[in-house]
Amino acid sequence: MRVGGRTVRELGTSVEDDAQVEVDGRVVRPAAVHTYVVLHKPVGVMTTMRDPEGRRTVADVVRRAGVTARVVPVGRLDYDTSGVLLLTDDGETANVLTHPRFGVEKMYRATVRGRLAPEAIEAIMRGVRLDEGRAAPAQLRVVAVRRDVSLVDITIHEGRNRQVRRMFEVVDHPVVALARLRFGPIALGELAPGAVRPATAREVAALHRIVTDAKAEADA
Ligand code: URA
Repeated sequence: MRVGGRTVRELGTSVEDDAQVEVDGRVVRPAAVHTYVVLHKPVGVMTTMRDPEGRRTVADVVRRAGVTARVVPVGRLDYDTSGVLLLTDDGETANVLTHPRFGVEKMYRATVRGRLAPEAIEAIMRGVRLDEGRAAPAQLRVVAVRRDVSLVDITIHEGRNRQVRRMFEVVDHPVVALARLRFGPIALGELAPGAVRPATAREVAALHRIVTDAKAEADA
């Protein structure tokens, strides 16, 4: 282990909060300094800290769950979208995770009207044209087809406003329900709507790896 560029061999060495610590040549950051919580955002909750119109916000939900750290949402989900939302007080990690350059993967389960023809699927996979420019290619998997709707898993790397809804609108299959199942390394799993859990050590390590890799890429 190296601290501030110097090799340290003693177990239980204390380090300053801002010291750079390297293990096996990789910069590691202490996990306990920041708070990372995972929320299953329900439909009908604003992804903001406060709402001038008095609607329920993700801040209300996490506070009620007992989170006292000053966490903020990493990116946003629409009022009418449910699913996994990370909140943290780690500004650097939040910035990297939401920066378009680093293209963190997000997977959604969309319920869309109608049955998707192969041409519609191909158009989305190639990247449909949106008002402000072409969307990047997306991965798509039709999970089930019901009488008048289809369930589709879609993975995107961008985070434009109402992006998934607009992508399906372009191919004439409006979204009737949208849930995010995965945000980067964090999966929704069995977390109930409105429930909050701390991110696991493995998830936090994966988030930090994204930040470390992003910084290395930015420096290259
Ligand atoms: N795409 C959308 O259309 N809405 C969301 O909330 C997230 C992604």
